[in-house]
Order: sequence, then structure tokens, then C-alpha cells
Amino acid sequence: MMIAVHSRALGPAVGGVRMRHYADWRDGMEDALRLSEAMTYKCAAADLAFGGGKSVIALDRPLTPELRQAALEDLGDLIASLDGSYLTGPDVGTGPADMAVLRQRTPHVFCLPEEQGGTGSSSIPTAVGVLAALRAGARHVFGSESLDGRTVVISGMGSVGSLVAKELPGARVIVSDVDPARRDPAYEWVEPEEALRTPADVFVPAAVGGVFDPRTVPEVGAQLVVGPANNQLAADSVAELLVQRGITWIPDFVASAGGAVYTLAREIGHLSHDEAMRRVEAIGSTVDTVLTGEGNPLENALNLAKERLTRSALPAGEA
Ligand code: PHE
Repeated sequence: MMIAVHSRALGPAVGGVRMRHYADWRDGMEDALRLSEAMTYKCAAADLAFGGGKSVIALDRPLTPELRQAALEDLGDLIASLDGSYLTGPDVGTGPADMAVLRQRTPHVFCLPEEQGGTGSSSIPTAVGVLAALRAGARHVFGSESLDGRTVVISGMGSVGSLVAKELPGARVIVSDVDPARRDPAYEWVEPEEALRTPADVFVPAAVGGVFDPRTVPEVGAQLVVGPANNQLAADSVAELLVQRGITWIPDFVASAGGAVYTLAREIGHLSHDEAMRRVEAIGSTVDTVLTGEGNPLENALNLAKERLTRSALPAGEA
């Protein structure tokens, strides 16, 4: 297991615990490093006074409940050793019950179950943020934020993807997942390797990252791409390839910020549910900014984030 802290320029590093299978633990380390950097931009672009971090528990086999508990306890001790410079929450493979286990070892944990005083799963606000980004993107691309009659392909029916699917009643929703058990008869289904190239208006990456690279970009079947998966591009240069194909891609670290925005507003800012949700909805305005700037959407979003990061590095009085 490992914790990556990418930046504390704006405040303590925040980022969830990813627990999943990796062929080699070094792949997990690579993931932690890239995901922690994405958290830095996510927080900065959302104007949160937090930096970027991430924990990865890299599994080489399924864990028994006892081993899972022990792994989380060890991670809790590791987080405690960082003394508040890294704060954690859930991510792929973990949820509120796991946060409660960490909490026994360290106070620096968000998203405990509601009965234990936390705000619970961050999946709902993450999905609300994705939908706000989707509507803003639709306004730019289709001239209307309504998705009625549009075809939306969702790749990944995990905790966020399945919530997004439910909120698109007027659309034709096609879903896919690497786990066939997540097939839901309420929606059309495509095999995971078909999802990206299925002709559609919108493609929603809601699984793990690395979806777009020079080989897959020519195959993309949708005009608008927006979803909660972190690190969707194999490299920053892929953003330009998407532009060249006339595809509007909304930067993942903007679209996926809802969970962090909501949780930090509630648990650190002590805002009400409604006020915190208004902040999540504001992701729509950030998308407007990012899609109307001079560069491509990734450049614009990174500029927005980096401007805040460098401003914070100025000595007090000059900022
Ligand atoms: N998984 C969340 C993300 O990638 C991490 C998170 C959620 C952090 C909630 C803090 C609170 O943004």
C-alpha cells in the first residue's frame, strides 16, 4: 500500500483510497502518483483550499474480510503518521464502511457512514457534478442542455455511472461494464470493448482511466465526452487529438469534482446539504469557462488550476 502526496500548495492533500487488483504493485504506484496529481488540479480548478493526494492498496488476489480489515488498519496507521498533511476518503473499491475502519486509527478521514457522523458515500454528489458538466457541455455542443432523445453511452456501471444512468430519463441510455453482473435490464447493453465506438451523442467514461490514446481516439463514436473516471487521457497530448476529431472532451478533473466539493463543504466548511450541492452545481460554470477559453479544454482547465496554484506560492501581501 502507498500514499502519494502531489501538492500541498493550497492546503492539506486530499484524495481517496483506491483498492483494486494490479498485475504488479508498481502499476499501483504509477496509478497513485498520477491520481494524486489529478487531485491537485481537481481541487485547484474547483477553488478548494486543498492539495492532491491518493492512497492505493494494490491487490494481487482477492482478500478475505479479515485481511481486508487488516489492510485498512495498516493504511489508517500510515495516514495517521502523516499527521494531517494527507486526508482521505473513498475511491474505486472502497466506501463509507471502509472509512469507518480507517477512522479507528486516524481522524483524517471523510465520508464515514451517516450514522457515524459522516456524509456517507460521495457517489451522489459526484454524479450530480457529472450531470451539471454534462448539461453545460450539451449546451455548447448541441445548443441545448436537454438530453431528451439523445443517445448516451455509459462505460462503467459502478457507484457513479449507475447513478448518472438513472438521471437521464428522456435519453436513450446504453451501458457497459467489465463485470457482466452489473448488466441492468433497464438499459441497453454493449460489451465493454464496444462502448467507446458505439455511435452516440455523449460518451460517459465512468470506469478506470487511460481510455483515450492515439489508437482509440479515431474510434470514438460520440461528439461529447464527459464522465467521472479519473485520468481518462493516456497523455495530455491526447486532448488535442480529440479536438482534431471534433470531439468535445470535458476534463475529467473538472467533471469529477462533485464528491470532493460536497464532502469538504460539509465536513470541513460545515455548510448545509443544499448549500454544498449548490457548489457542486457550480461545476457547470467551470465547464462553461473551460469550453470558451482560448486553448483546448485541457489547456484551459490546467491554466485555471495552475493560476490558483502559483498565486498561492506568492509571499503573503503579493497574492
Ligand atoms: N474519489 C474521490 C475523487 O476522486 C476522492 C474523495 C471523495 C476525496 C470525497 C474526498 C472526499 O475525487
